Amino acid sequence: MSEEALGVLGICGSPRAGNSLFLLGEALAAAETVPGIAEGSKSLSVRGKKLAPCIACGRCYERGDCCLEDDFQGMRDAWLEADAIIYSVPVYHMSMPGQLKCFIDRLGNSLFGKYRHLFSEDKLPKFLKAIGSIAQGIHLHSGQEHTLTDLINHALLMGCIPVTGDLWQSYIGGAGWTSNDGEGTALERQCQERLPDALLALQSARSVGRRTAEMAVLVRAGAQGLGRAAQGDPIYRVFIDSVPGNPGSRR
Ligand SMILES: Cc1cc2nc3c(=O)[nH]c(=O)nc-3n(C[C@H](O)[C@H](O)[C@H](O)COP(=O)(O)O)c2cc1C
Repeated sequence: MSEEALGVLGICGSPRAGNSLFLLGEALAAAETVPGIAEGSKSLSVRGKKLAPCIACGRCYERGDCCLEDDFQGMRDAWLEADAIIYSVPVYHMSMPGQLKCFIDRLGNSLFGKYRHLFSEDKLPKFLKAIGSIAQGIHLHSGQEHTLTDLINHALLMGCIPVTGDLWQSYIGGAGWTSNDGEGTALERQCQERLPDALLALQSARSVGRRTAEMAVLVRAGAQGLGRAAQGDPIYRVFIDSVPGNPGSRR
């Protein structure tokens, strides 16, 4: 197995530096305790970013890139570079905030265009990144699971591996609520006050961080065998090329 440390990318889906960013920081700190994971994980946020919605022009199929030039391209490159990704998002209207959805919509289609030259028929490569998700709402039973399911579907669609934390705090991802408190600092304060629900949210975020990082390490180890067996299958090409030491590796 390659000795090079794996990179974890945190993506915060909130337009403010609030509760989801707090949980993301905890998840990333837990991820970094896993042997083989690089220190100083990269963390991005949609906050202050320009992420326009897809206009369905279809030009990404020909150009291999999105024709809308804004903060999407930088986020896409960071996404492609990472071995593991942890999303931490606030629940908006029972789902993820629009800025993040804009990024995800454009990511899938533009990467399809970027890599279609690998295939003789239309396919999207399997990127095989470990993806963990955390959803944070103000109320209880108010969209956390729907939001996590949307992110799990995104992971599956991108040929990635959705990862959950540990039961019982994290059935399909990390989740929390702030007991009707809308402040961006609510969850951190409630953790300091040792409120049980806030501590559960913290625990779930940490376990998502740790397990997602571990999965990335396991996948990297598995790539050794896959590297030989799947040389001829372009569906794995982008992943194999991301593994140091494999022939054609871009690292
Ligand atoms: C436009 C909008 C829609 C929201 N919709 C929901 C919702 O459907 N369910 C929920 O539990 N909280 C909802 N919230 C509350 C946020 O999810 C909650 O305050 C969260 O902690 C914010 O995270 P942040 O501090 O990282 O921004 C909504 C907030 C906004 C601004």
